[in-house]
Amino acid sequence: MRTQPIGASDLTASNLILGLMRIKEMSDADIRTLVSTALDEGITMFDHADIYGNDHACEERFGSALRWSAAEREQVVLQTKCGIRQGWFDFSEAHILRSVDQSLAALKTDYLDILLLHRPDALVEPEEVASAFDKLSASGKVRHFGVSNHTRGQLELLRATVKQPLLVNQLQLSVTHANMIAEGVALNMRHEQSVVRTDGILDYCRLTNTTVQAWSPFQSGDGTGPFLGNREHYAELNDVVDRLAGEYGVSAEAIATAWITRHPAHIQVVLGTTRPERVAAAAQGAQLPLTREQWYEIFRSAGYIVP
Ligand SMILES: NC(=O)c1ccc[n+]([C@@H]2O[C@H](COP(=O)([O-])OP(=O)(O)OC[C@H]3O[C@@H](n4cnc5c(N)ncnc54)[C@H](OP(=O)(O)O)[C@@H]3O)[C@@H](O)[C@H]2O)c1
Repeated sequence: MRTQPIGASDLTASNLILGLMRIKEMSDADIRTLVSTALDEGITMFDHADIYGNDHACEERFGSALRWSAAEREQVVLQTKCGIRQGWFDFSEAHILRSVDQSLAALKTDYLDILLLHRPDALVEPEEVASAFDKLSASGKVRHFGVSNHTRGQLELLRATVKQPLLVNQLQLSVTHANMIAEGVALNMRHEQSVVRTDGILDYCRLTNTTVQAWSPFQSGDGTGPFLGNREHYAELNDVVDRLAGEYGVSAEAIATAWITRHPAHIQVVLGTTRPERVAAAAQGAQLPLTREQWYEIFRSAGYIVP
């Protein structure tokens, strides 16, 4: 596992994060095994959202199952998100403050290491976000802040008013859903891959020292579920991944993880599996040094062009 700074802060964390979006129906014992496997693998960071499981349910499952002591709590980086409601988005000051209080209660902790604004609110008033963040920072309830699914313009708009550094932008990224990388590779061609969907968000994040976190790293992104083992839609990709897994003596999950961690942007990978063995399998890829040639071979086999 690699440890890295988060944004331009003194906070550090593992380059793999365990995401807890899918734990609502798991038993306390299974949640404890999942989390202790992650910790044993060197994963020190955990990702939540108020909306996971609806109404803070996954945060509550996590807090109840673990009941960390203050000393155990200090060893990890807890991140959660707010701003998505049922069919609408809400970055109002009142909602941000209320959601954080409910997250703290559900997680059974006094503070969040990082709070992310989950999805851009079209009706955002940066002054309201700034006021909420000032209060959360002054009270010690939230130590650091960031966003998720934000464009560079939306980040710049917030940065013009919010005092606290926005350390993180959590974005959808897997080898089969790699618009933020692929569109630049095919710039200005008469090809679907040239369509600009992300407005250079990855380069913007690198230039502004904003840590990118990759959500759904094993999902195809096209509605066909995980791409690993999905030979109906991704036969060539699975051939390449399995061959490289054999060459390195690691799992297929490790190769899929390494495709992201190999990128020089120091992207953190947010794992969503509920199975401890898959956490361990993915962890093998945290520092796997794919060569340039191998990285591009995986990219091409996922269907992208290299002109
Ligand atoms: N910011 C955002 O808007 C946003 C959106 C979505 C998610 N997230 C965050 O990102 C995290 C990860 O998202 P995700 O759960 O979609 O990620 P993922 O790791 O790509 O997908 C995990 C899901 O794929 C299944 N799966 C099947 N085969 C697999 C294999 N070979 N390897 C790994 N998983 C396999 C897992 O099942 P098993 O459990 O049986 O392994 C699980 O249901 C979430 O927990 C959440 O923290 C953020």
